[in-house]
Amino acid sequence: SIGVSSASGSRDIATVIKECDKDYIVFYGSQTGTAEDYAKMFAKELVGRFSLKVMCADLENFDFETLNELPANVIVSFFISTYGEGDFPDGAVPFEEFLTSLDETEQPLNKLRFTMFGLGNSTYEFFNNAAKKATKNMTESGATLIGRLGSGDDGAATTDEDYLAWKEVVLDDIKDALALNEHEQVYEPSFKYTVLLGQDTEADPESISLGEPTKQYLPCNELPFSKQLNVQTGPFNNAFPYLAPMVRSKELFAPESNRNCIHAEFDLSGSNIKYSTGDHLAVWPSNTNEAVQLFIAAFDLNEDEVFDLTPADPTVVLPFPCPTTIGSVVRYYLEITGPISRQFFSALVQFAPNNSIRTRLSELSKDKDLFATEIHSKCFNVADAVLYLSNDMPWKTVPFEFLIESVPLLKPRYYSISSSSMTEKQTVHITAIVEENVTAEDSPVKSTFGVTTNLLRNMELSQNDDETTMEHTSVSYNLDGPRNLFQDYKLPVYVRRSTFKLPMNPKTPVIMIGPGTGVAPFRGFIRDRVKYASQEANANAPLGKHLLFYGCRNQNDFLYQDEWPSYATALDGALEMFVGFSRLPDTPKRYVQDLLKENESQVVTLLKQGAFIYVCGEAKGMAQGVHAALVDIISRGMFISTEDATEMVKMMKTSGKYQEDVW
Ligand code: 2AM
Repeated sequence: SIGVSSASGSRDIATVIKECDKDYIVFYGSQTGTAEDYAKMFAKELVGRFSLKVMCADLENFDFETLNELPANVIVSFFISTYGEGDFPDGAVPFEEFLTSLDETEQPLNKLRFTMFGLGNSTYEFFNNAAKKATKNMTESGATLIGRLGSGDDGAATTDEDYLAWKEVVLDDIKDALALNEHEQVYEPSFKYTVLLGQDTEADPESISLGEPTKQYLPCNELPFSKQLNVQTGPFNNAFPYLAPMVRSKELFAPESNRNCIHAEFDLSGSNIKYSTGDHLAVWPSNTNEAVQLFIAAFDLNEDEVFDLTPADPTVVLPFPCPTTIGSVVRYYLEITGPISRQFFSALVQFAPNNSIRTRLSELSKDKDLFATEIHSKCFNVADAVLYLSNDMPWKTVPFEFLIESVPLLKPRYYSISSSSMTEKQTVHITAIVEENVTAEDSPVKSTFGVTTNLLRNMELSQNDDETTMEHTSVSYNLDGPRNLFQDYKLPVYVRRSTFKLPMNPKTPVIMIGPGTGVAPFRGFIRDRVKYASQEANANAPLGKHLLFYGCRNQNDFLYQDEWPSYATALDGALEMFVGFSRLPDTPKRYVQDLLKENESQVVTLLKQGAFIYVCGEAKGMAQGVHAALVDIISRGMFISTEDATEMVKMMKTSGKYQEDVW
C-alpha cells in the first residue's frame, strides 16, 4: 500500500495536519488495496469539487491521541475494509486498539466529526464488522457521524454502486456542514509530471525504473537491487516485495482437460521471508502485451516516454519508483484489465475528446442502469470502454498523470500456500487454476481472464520449454522483462500471515473440506502431518484421525492425484480421503456436502471428540453449502434442534475450531 507521512516524519495526526496545512482527512484501512482506491477517489472528488486541502493517508502511519484536537473545521472520512472473521485490516489494528482503549464516560472524541464507508462481503458472517465497530466506538466516545454508515458489498458485487449512492448524499452533508462552495469538478494532480528529454535521462540511465519492484520508494542512489552482485537486500514487506525465482512448475490437469491449473514453486532462500503452513502468498502480476498495447493505443501514449513525478505536497507519496517510462507503468503498475467503474467515467468527462462523446459519457456516468447495460454488462476495461465510445478513435486529450491517479493500481493476488513449512522451509508452493472466462455473447470483448494465473501458466510453459503450446495461449507477457533480469523466471511475492492453522495437539481429530483448488492448504497440512509422523520422537504419540473431503469435476481435474496415496501410506490409517466427482457422464453430481452426509456418523463421532473443521474454497455456494450440511448433520447426529446446531457451529467458529479460508 502507499504510505503517507508528513515532512517532519511525525505520526501525530494533529501535528501533521497543522504542519502540512490541510483542512480535511481521508483515512483508509485496507487489506488488499480496495479501501485505499475508494479513499483516493473520494479525496480526489473533495479536491476537485470543493477545493478542500485533503490529506489521504493509511491509518497505519498515524497515532491518534490527538484525534480530538484537530482544527474545528476538519472532518475525517474513514474507509475501512473488513477482513477474515470480522477483523480490521492488519494496518488498522493499532487504530482499533486506540478506539477500544477510549473511556466513553469522558467523551474523549466529542469534537470529532467523521464519515464512514465500510468495505466487506455479505456472504461472510461478520459483514463490515470493522467499519461498524469503529463507528460504534467513536460515536459512543462523543464523535458525530455525518451521513449514514456506508457499506460496500463485494459479495453482491455492488461495491461501486453502494459507494456512489452513499457518496452523493454524504458529499451534500459535508458541503452543508462546512458551508462549502461547489464548482464543476476539475482535476488537480497530486504530483507534477515532467517529461525527461535527451540530456536529463542520459545523465543517469541506471536511475530509470523499468518496473523492478525492488526499486520501490527508495532514492535512486540507494537502490537495494544490485545488478553486479545478483542479490536483493531486504527487509521485504508488503510494500516492498521480494523478486522470487520460480524454481519449478507443472501443469496439474490432464491433457484431456480444456482447463489449466498450475503448480508453482518459489524459492524464498534469498530473502528474510518466513511462512508457516496455511499462510497466503501475495503475487504481483504484470499486464499482458495485448492489454498494454490496447491501453497505449486507446490514449495515444508514447510507451518510451521517460518522465518524473514530483509530489505536490509532503503528504503525497509516489505510487511507483521514478523516473520511469509510460510503458513500464502501464505494464507493471496499473490495473488496466479490471472492469471500468462508473466513478471513473464521471471523472473522465472533463477530458472527453469532443462534445458528442462528452455528452454520452456524462449521460452514462449519471445513469446507473444505462451504465450497467451499456458498459458494465459488456465486461469492458478502461481501454475497451473509451474506444467503444469513440468508435476506435484514440483519446489524445487525457493526461497520463490523470490515468496514473484514476486507474486503480495493480494489486497483488493472494494464493493459499500448498506446501508445508515443516517440509519445505525455503520454498513455497501455490496451486492456481487458470481463469479464462468467455464473456457475454453480445460483448465485443472476447474474454476476460486472470492476469496472474495466465502469467503463471505462460511462465510454466516457457520454463518447461513447451513452445508449441505457448503459441496457442490466448495472451502473452514480457517474460524477459526487467523482473527476470537473470534469466530465471521471477515474480514479486510476499507472505501474508493467516490464522488458518492446524490444532496444536496432533491427537486432535481434523476434518478438512476443500473441493477444487480449495484443497491447496490441505496439501500443506497433510505434508506437515507426514513430517510429524516421520519423526522418531513422535513414534509413541500417534496422530488423531484426519479426514479430507475433496470434490472435482472428473479424473482430469483431480488435483495431486499421484500424491495422496503416498500420504495415506505414510500416515498409516490416520488419513482418510473422500472424493466426489461432479461431472461424470450419466451420473448425478456428487459434492463435498454429499460426501459429508454419506459419512455422517464418523463426522459426528469425531466432532464429539473435539475435532477441528477446516473449509477452503469458494465462499458463496460451497462454503455456505458445507455450513448448512454440517448444521444438518450435527442436529441429527446429536439430537439437537437446527437452532442449537447453528449456535454450536457459531461457537466453533468463534473459538477457532471451525476455520474458513474462502474467496
Ligand atoms: P461443478 O461441476 O458443479 O462445477 C471444484 O470446483 C468442484 O466444486 C467441482 O466439482 C464443482 O462442481 C464443485 N462445486 C461447485 N459448486 C459447488 C457448491 N455449491 N458446493 C460444493 N461443491 C461445488
